[in-house]
Amino acid sequence: MASVPSTIAPAPAPAPLAPGPRWGVPLLGQVFEAWRDPLGLFMRARAEHGDVVRFKFGHLRYHLVSDPEGIRHVLVDNAKAYTKSRNYKGLKLVLGQGLLTSEGDFWRRQRKLAQPAFHREKMSAFAEAMGACAGQMLERWGAHPDSAALDVHAELMRVTFQIVGRTLLSTDLDDPNGAVGKALSVVLQFANDYAESFFALPPWVPTPRNARFKRALRTLDDIVLGIIEQRRRSPDAHNDLLSMLMAVRDQETNESMTDRQLRDEVITIVLAGHETTANALAWTLYLLSRHPDVERRVAAELRDVLGGRAPSLADLPRLTFTKMVIEESLRLYPPAWAFERQAVEPDVICGYAIAPGDIVGISPYAVHRHPRHWDNPEGFDPERFRPERVEGRPRYAYLPFGGGPRVCIGNGFAMMEAQVLLAAIVQHARLELVPDHPVELSPLITLRPKHGLRMTLHRRAPAAAISDAPLGPSPAPP
Ligand code: HEM
Repeated sequence: MASVPSTIAPAPAPAPLAPGPRWGVPLLGQVFEAWRDPLGLFMRARAEHGDVVRFKFGHLRYHLVSDPEGIRHVLVDNAKAYTKSRNYKGLKLVLGQGLLTSEGDFWRRQRKLAQPAFHREKMSAFAEAMGACAGQMLERWGAHPDSAALDVHAELMRVTFQIVGRTLLSTDLDDPNGAVGKALSVVLQFANDYAESFFALPPWVPTPRNARFKRALRTLDDIVLGIIEQRRRSPDAHNDLLSMLMAVRDQETNESMTDRQLRDEVITIVLAGHETTANALAWTLYLLSRHPDVERRVAAELRDVLGGRAPSLADLPRLTFTKMVIEESLRLYPPAWAFERQAVEPDVICGYAIAPGDIVGISPYAVHRHPRHWDNPEGFDPERFRPERVEGRPRYAYLPFGGGPRVCIGNGFAMMEAQVLLAAIVQHARLELVPDHPVELSPLITLRPKHGLRMTLHRRAPAAAISDAPLGPSPAPP
């Protein structure tokens, strides 16, 4: 008979709870501060409490994780312990089971089906459409008086919307008064309010707001399902994302996507794919207006590589500084400023306990300004993105497109679009912020300039006149 050991090894001590603010409203904790100024709250909490901070948002425990290894743990190594969080519930009402909001095996299958449509070779077909839309925007700007201000953010929303329409659906969605644009802004506003509010009434309650939302959603459905039906009836050759999504088949079952799945993916891509890129470019143009030395360097690179012609896909790898500027702008103003996961099993992150149901928040905005990983974190310095400097940095100290299996599927598309649009704009004009125009961050679903971005247009002098002034030290952005 086996003998019973006389001493039993003590069980390891359970992981402690992460530190966090002690102040807050009884029962609700820090929820009002998170609602009033989430960026400020995250930045202060990280500085005060460290790389894992525990907040109380009503009945929810929310952990902000800013350590690159902790982030890798959540997004990659132990991704199976998490789902998308309840914060996606508002978007889910609009996007259904699209890639951004679906989960589990369904998401895995959809991602596998959609992935080939986003391969680099496929993307190349879209560069031309992007260039054409940029050309139309510049033509509009050409008719704009020099001294009159332009809302550059609104212009960029318009052009990225037009690009997603052309590349996804071969359809012109560009009419600012058109049904799609109007319906989209109603559903987005609703989704945003719904996700943020603790007290939002579910959409089935008959309020005027809910009725407006449902009407707008029906309009979107009718338009998108109408386009899909038309394609099914006459599947002419369209070189767009929709036809790629319609053509793909599951290798095991040979099934293709249903109309409903296509509808969810189309609306997801329209939503995920236009406001994010518009914001990225708006912040880039804002930063360039504050750093004329950097702007001159971009203009000089464009002159040297393009000599005044529009950029083609083959030119993009040579526009290295232009790309570094976009990367640095995505660091300071990441459009996806925070995203969340919800634990489905117990976990330990950087030594701290996470319970099932807890929310884990990752804020690219806070991580990208972490003084341990970035010198002069608030300063604008595209040189940080020289390949030799990128090499020494932890992978998850920079994640404007997320990471792991659910990394942004449109990453390549967005970078190509941003490079094409920025090159076209800077070749054409220098943009100057209207003095006293308030520039404030508005962290909604994406990070927007709250009051738009009013800028005046100064048409570019002939290419030869662009100065090659060396890049000086950059002052910190506000
Ligand atoms: C600068 C532009 C963009 C930024 C900063 C951005 C950022 C992100 C981030 C951070 C995620 C991951 C969210 C999470 O893990 O919860 C994501 C997912 C996604 N993005 Fe983007 N995105 C951009 C442009 C685009 C474009 C152009 C498209 C489509 C053409 C797109 C389509 C998607 C989709 C479908 C997902 C969900 C992927 C999945 O879960 O499988 N995005 N994006």
